[in-house]
Order: sequence, then structure tokens, then C-alpha cells
Amino acid sequence: MSHPIKTMPNSATINTRSKVALVTGASSGIGRASALALHSAGFIVYATARDASSLQGLANWGLRTLPLDVTDEASMMRAVADIEADGHPVGVLVNNAGYGLNGPIEELELSEVRREFETNVFGLLRLCQLVLPGMRRAGWGRIINIGSVGGSFTAPGAGAYHASKYALEAINDALRCEVQNFGVDVTLVKPTGVYTAFDKKIAGTMPDTGPDSPYLAFKTNHMRVTRAMFTPGRNTAGIIRPEQVAAVVVQAALARRPRTRSVVGLSGHLYLALRRLLSDRAWDRLMATQFPVSSASE
Ligand SMILES: NC(=O)c1ccc[n+]([C@@H]2O[C@H](COP(=O)([O-])OP(=O)(O)OC[C@H]3O[C@@H](n4cnc5c(N)ncnc54)[C@H](OP(=O)(O)O)[C@@H]3O)[C@@H](O)[C@H]2O)c1
Repeated sequence: MSHPIKTMPNSATINTRSKVALVTGASSGIGRASALALHSAGFIVYATARDASSLQGLANWGLRTLPLDVTDEASMMRAVADIEADGHPVGVLVNNAGYGLNGPIEELELSEVRREFETNVFGLLRLCQLVLPGMRRAGWGRIINIGSVGGSFTAPGAGAYHASKYALEAINDALRCEVQNFGVDVTLVKPTGVYTAFDKKIAGTMPDTGPDSPYLAFKTNHMRVTRAMFTPGRNTAGIIRPEQVAAVVVQAALARRPRTRSVVGLSGHLYLALRRLLSDRAWDRLMATQFPVSSASE
């Protein structure tokens, strides 16, 4: 069986300081594709996931695997310490672990919003803190954060998820300036919609508050539109494959001067241009056509 991802090994351009890459959320989707692509490009990849048994396939390809839950301080510290104990600091950190949370703001459980931020934001920030001492000592490092085009515009019914991705924009910009002098580059990768397990998982997060919910029609419409958006062959609105995002991750790891932000996918560029062009009210009207709030407009 051939390796599923054929990214060109280009070891001449890999900085020799540390070829060790740590990828979070590598059990599926973008994380799995990025781990494989970095491995193909010559990195020593530590693929991590909450349940390490989900990484067996990657282990069979020769990747190293570790358990890592980005909401668990002890788990994060152990993973970074285990990698450093193998002899090298983490050279490339790919902060990929994350998930979507849907629901109208009024109906969101605060505990769910906190869990979203623990995973998508605080876990990412903490891992940066844990790997940076090693990167500073080495005088070289690459931090690659998986944001989203949804960190530059917001769709109704996904406010909590967008808020978490907006937060990454600020963390990325601050961190980039703070660590540049230590030889560490920071890149925010911003994919458009990607075919992964993401949309199936997000579908289950819409709060079910019963038939009397004032948002019932909106939620029903929202779930229908989201499902259609990710259904291949229908109104897919430019959904891309995880390997396309992985290729950009590898570029960010290898480039002499990595990009500060990389939007991945043509539809992502289109959404961003539209958002820049439209006033808030005009954007609201566009969103209302996409996610109608009443059943009358279905
Ligand atoms: N798919 C899209 O349309 C899209 C678009 C833009 C950005 N993104 C971003 O891309 C990233 C990857 O998502 P994906 O599309 O590849 O979805 P995915 O296939 O569902 O992968 C998400 C990964 O995150 C992991 N994860 C979730 N909670 C975790 C935790 N507490 N600790 C460690 N790992 C955890 C999951 O692991 P488990 O197996 O343990 O659940 C899984 O490996 C996310 O940050 C997402 O926001 C996705």
C-alpha cells in the first residue's frame, strides 16, 4: 500500500535545528492529513489525540504517537516533556485540535461555550507556552495555528465557534511579534469548509430546547443548510479536502519566510472579499437569506 499523501520531501530546506513536529487532533481530518504530510516532508512527527489508539494507522506509517488532550494541563505537559526527553525540542507545533459549536446565542449553555474555548483557544495558547522555551533555546521554531475563515466573518447560529476563531487572530498577531526575535515564526492557517468529521460533529451540538423554542425554525433551517453545504455533489460552496490544508501547513513549516496568514480555498477568499465589501446591514441581509429565521422564509 502506498503512502496516502505524497508531499515532496524537501529536506534541503528543513532547518536542521529541530525536525520534530507535534500535531494536535491528529485522529482525523486536517490534523491527520497534516501529520502525514509533515512525515512525508521529512519531519519526525508526533501525532497526538485524546485517544492514542485512534492513531494506530499513523503509527503503522512510522509516525510517533502520544495521547494529548488539549483541555488537560497534565496531558499537555506530559506530551511535551516526553518529546523533549526523546532528545529534541518541538521544532514545529501544529495547533489543530478543535471543533464547532452551533446554536443561537440565547440558547447556548455557558458550560458548552467554556468547553469550546478550553479546546479551541486555551489549549492552543497553553501548548504555545509549553513548547516556546525549547524553541527559544534552539533559536528556531514554527507555530502553525489552524484558525478558520470564520475568524474574519460570522454566520448566525455559530457565534461561539466564530468567537473562538476570532480569538486566535489576536493570539496569532501578538505572539508573532513577541517571538520573532527568538527565531520563531507564527502562521495562522485559515481554511474554508473542509470535508472532515467536523460537520457531522457540529450537527450534534445545536441545542435541543423543545418545540416551543422561539428559534425552532431558525435552528431547523440552519441544520438543513449546513448539511447541504457539506454534502458532496450538491451546493458544496467550494468545500475543500484536508490534504489541501495539509499542503499549506507543510509550506508554513518549510518556508524560509512563512506567511503570517494563509487562507485556504477559493470560496474562503470569496467570503472574505464579500465581508470586506458589504456593510454590516448588507452582510446581515445576506446571512438572512442563507439562514432564514422563520419557517415562512424556508
Ligand atoms: N472542517 C472544516 O470545515 C474546518 C474549517 C475551518 C477550520 N477548521 C478547523 O480545523 C481543525 C481540525 O478540524 P477538522 O475539520 O479536521 O475536524 P475533525 O476531523 O473533527 O478533527 C478534529 C480533531 O480535533 C480533535 N480534538 C477535539 N477535541 C480535542 C481535545 N480536547 N484534545 C485533543 N484533540 C481534540 C479531535 O479528536 P477526537 O478524535 O478525540 O475527537 C480530532 O482529531 C479545527 O480546529 C477546526 O476548527 C475546520
